[in-house]
Amino acid sequence: MDRRARIYVAGHTGMVGAAIVRELRAAGFENLLLVPRSELDLTDQRAVRDFFVEHRPRYVVDSAARVGGIEANLTYPAEFLYENLTIQNNLIWSAKETSVETFLFLGSSCIYPRDCPQPMREEYLMNGRPEPTNEAYAYAKIAGMKLCEYIHREFGRNFVSCMPTNIYGEGDNFDPSSSHVIPSLLRRMQEAKESEAAEVVVWGTGESRREFMHVDDLANAVVWLLMNHRSPRFLNVGTGEDISVRSLAERIRSLVGYEGDLVFDASKPDGMPRKVLDVSPLHRSGWRHRIGFDEGLERAYAWYLSYVHEAPQRIREPLHPA
Ligand SMILES: NC(=O)c1ccc[n+]([C@@H]2O[C@H](COP(=O)([O-])OP(=O)(O)OC[C@H]3O[C@@H](n4cnc5c(N)ncnc54)[C@H](OP(=O)(O)O)[C@@H]3O)[C@@H](O)[C@H]2O)c1
Repeated sequence: MDRRARIYVAGHTGMVGAAIVRELRAAGFENLLLVPRSELDLTDQRAVRDFFVEHRPRYVVDSAARVGGIEANLTYPAEFLYENLTIQNNLIWSAKETSVETFLFLGSSCIYPRDCPQPMREEYLMNGRPEPTNEAYAYAKIAGMKLCEYIHREFGRNFVSCMPTNIYGEGDNFDPSSSHVIPSLLRRMQEAKESEAAEVVVWGTGESRREFMHVDDLANAVVWLLMNHRSPRFLNVGTGEDISVRSLAERIRSLVGYEGDLVFDASKPDGMPRKVLDVSPLHRSGWRHRIGFDEGLERAYAWYLSYVHEAPQRIREPLHPA
């Protein structure tokens, strides 16, 4: 892949997009097209089309989406479906119409069926209904992945997708009202340590098992796929390793140095007993993750301390890559 090629990273101010920009720069790609929402609203079809006609990127990574937790998904399903369909349709179709060579779309492992057999293989997608708490998001993502697949098959263009697992790390959302389990536990244990609270309550029995991947590993995989993936079939991107919520909470307690108790509230739902991706096709294709879980957690904690903990207003500020 030509290091001078123009690459458009949509959603570069987000956690994943910012990491992709860091990774591309580290790999020597300097001709990056990065436009904040204030200059290009991706739900505006004409503006997106004009942008592609004017700037003619050769490669596009779509890491722009309306993303949110359970509460946001349940409260605003119409907006989640409409905005995500619109953003991805505008990007994918404008890219198709303007001769983009490779377009990479990001799915999300949370769109696999609610009762999916484990580990989740690519062919299980749509074998059952999605999890009701993120149904609208799931239908939009499925449509985006299908549109890329159809363009690949019908027009012979390299429009591809990948299915990342749960991501954590630099740029994560530490807002207590909407954060995922890792940033939520890091923050709550840090605050409990500082206030010398006697206990931290964790939802569920702690027995359910989940997979997590550091955002820099995902970014590395994205750049690798951009250069190497040439198939209409999407690939799972994860570590293939899962950990119980109890073990996760204990590791975070020890990392943070919190000495109080962990209380598992079994009256709260556990969700699926296990969720982990089958990554054997990804491994066969030649890529595997590098950042071990302990190292990844240390990096996420260091970033939280230096970036958010020291300046809490930053929780709602978009990330701007250096
Ligand atoms: N985080 C995860 O655990 C995870 C796991 C699997 C897959 N993914 C996928 O990775 C992608 C990025 O996720 P993320 O966690 O990085 O989300 P994020 O931090 O919320 O970033 C979303 C990005 O999309 C941009 N965006 C949203 N609506 C826009 C609009 N109308 N016009 C222009 N830009 C818009 C945001 O811009 P602003 O900064 O202006 O808001 C931001 O740059 C998503 O497709 C998601 O499904 C994430």
